[in-house]
Amino acid sequence: MNVLALLRQRFAAALSELVEDPAPLVDLVRPSQGAQFGDYQANCAMPLGKQLGKPPREVAQSIVDRLEVDDLCETPEIAGPGFINLRLKQDWLAQQVAAALADPRRLAVERAEQPRNFVIDFSAPNVAKPMHVGHIRSTVIGASLVNVLSFLGHQVTSDNHIGDWGTQFGMIIYGYKNFRDAEAYRSQPVAELGRLYRLVSRLVDYQEGRKHSLPELTAQVETQTAALAEPATEPADEKQAKKAAKARKQAENRLRETQQKRAALADKLGAVEADGEAGPLAAAHPNIDALVLEETAKLHAGDAENRRLWEEFLPVCLEELEKTYRRIGVTFDHALGESFYHDRLAGVVDDLKQRGLARTSDGAVCVFLDGFDVPMIIQKRDGAFLYATTDLATLQYRVETFAADAVLYVVDHRQSDHFKMLFATARLWGLDQLEMEHLSFGTVMGEDGKPYKTRSGDTVGLTLLLDEAVERAHRIVCENDDAKPGGAELSADERRQVAEAVGIGALKYADLSHNRTSDYVFSYDKMLAMNGNTATYMQYAHARVRSIFARGDVSEAELAAASAELMLEHPAERALALELLRFSEALDATAAEYRPNLLTNYLFQLADCYSAFYQQCPVLKAETDALRLSRLRLCYLTANTLRLGLALLGIQVVEKM
Ligand code: ARG
Repeated sequence: MNVLALLRQRFAAALSELVEDPAPLVDLVRPSQGAQFGDYQANCAMPLGKQLGKPPREVAQSIVDRLEVDDLCETPEIAGPGFINLRLKQDWLAQQVAAALADPRRLAVERAEQPRNFVIDFSAPNVAKPMHVGHIRSTVIGASLVNVLSFLGHQVTSDNHIGDWGTQFGMIIYGYKNFRDAEAYRSQPVAELGRLYRLVSRLVDYQEGRKHSLPELTAQVETQTAALAEPATEPADEKQAKKAAKARKQAENRLRETQQKRAALADKLGAVEADGEAGPLAAAHPNIDALVLEETAKLHAGDAENRRLWEEFLPVCLEELEKTYRRIGVTFDHALGESFYHDRLAGVVDDLKQRGLARTSDGAVCVFLDGFDVPMIIQKRDGAFLYATTDLATLQYRVETFAADAVLYVVDHRQSDHFKMLFATARLWGLDQLEMEHLSFGTVMGEDGKPYKTRSGDTVGLTLLLDEAVERAHRIVCENDDAKPGGAELSADERRQVAEAVGIGALKYADLSHNRTSDYVFSYDKMLAMNGNTATYMQYAHARVRSIFARGDVSEAELAAASAELMLEHPAERALALELLRFSEALDATAAEYRPNLLTNYLFQLADCYSAFYQQCPVLKAETDALRLSRLRLCYLTANTLRLGLALLGIQVVEKM
């Protein structure tokens, strides 16, 4: 039961008698900031008073006169300038909590009244290329949204739009043909392909730097130096002299920056030349940049040899990815990579041209969009299609095949221009009824303030990242277990299992609990901290609640089946009950804004409420049996809510830790 939604409906009914459009006012019904203001508070009388030119308290009274909430609330209170404070009736609250207890699978969370059909595009790494932490963030956020939206009764299709068709294949094909270590490829194909990718991309960068960037920077240094050497005109007055001095300073700074850039690039190129392995290869393959593009073009054109190699490489790369997904417990309904759409691209371009939406400009086929400085290019002068073309074909396919009415892309913020243009084009193309959202997310930063990189910067690095988190979790779990007053409880095996859940959980929770759009600093210590908004804390909270049942020798079936009314006399009991009831609100908010951090925030708050309750209200030693049972049932629902909430985030709980 979403109490907030219910109250808003009631307010909408009351307000519609007073105003034309109650919606913005209804949004002002919110959970209250403190128990002294009731459980929920409506702040709509003030703006409505302004609108109607009446004193807000009077307006508040006329809202209250029309408001029908006696089934669930005490008589509403008008406070201060015109706040309407609402307090849920104790017995109503108790009934709702009992309903959640009686429904262990859904905890009485209702399904959406209007289920929608979502396609969620997430993870989407580029195979054979290093998968970066950003891809984990996409994977974890995407998977949690799949869970939450499905749980709420929506139809959700998860699709991993793998980058399996890009220039990286030209690179490994070229590398394979020219530089492969046959023995290494036989025994460790993924590692060898990774090595080839890194080697070739370094050589390509080298040639591009040598042929284009370095000469460009050199030319810039020359023009900037020349401009500074020009004799200055005599300034007419002091103001002009100041202006000229400022401009000169800026020009000098610009020159210094260009010189630094040029020097850094020259160093990088020098390092390749001096390298025992790369140096001679760079000299022997001066046209590698063009040849790599040729290999990619041949693959796309259906060249038999390149196609065969691609078919040989792809499964190995995918299996490697699969290992990571298995370990973090993520699955997809589909993994239709870029290659899947290859045959549709020409059709997409033709269609857009025919409809007059795309036209040739400078040899390339472009869609010109209002409000954008540059057009969206869908076919290059040499006939090659682009990332954007594939995304258009993908959208069309998703609408046709999955009957999507919303497509969500969980992709880092650097691609936001791409998605803006994609969506604008799609709307012109006729997909104007489709909700398209770029669920952008911020960068994962290292403690040095730069984007976080795994040590080796590749997929192996990613496995190491997971290993490291689990290893550290293991240390924490062991220390804790050893420190237990009654002696250690966990076997070596159990410790391993708990460490896996805690380590992986910590990584996921760190990605989820930060506001999706912000950058955040990756820190093992912070994510594994036992206090604070971390998975570790939540998992402990859950295990601690559960430990009561063992200590009190309580049967869970009995707790689920008990029918006596819950007792919520103590403020901490009541506060916990109210918080438990708000699970549904948290899920709806998460789904409405596509923000898993709203769910982590809720769970954190719930754990806090539970701690306060546990400190103030004896459970196993409650004064009466009836009170003991009632409190145990609150504990039981708390454990179930934490477990379900974490499960929807993709995080496991453990019984003991
Ligand atoms: N492969 C892309 C990358 O790693 C992300 C793809 C996101 N999905 C999409 N439909 N464009 O940057």
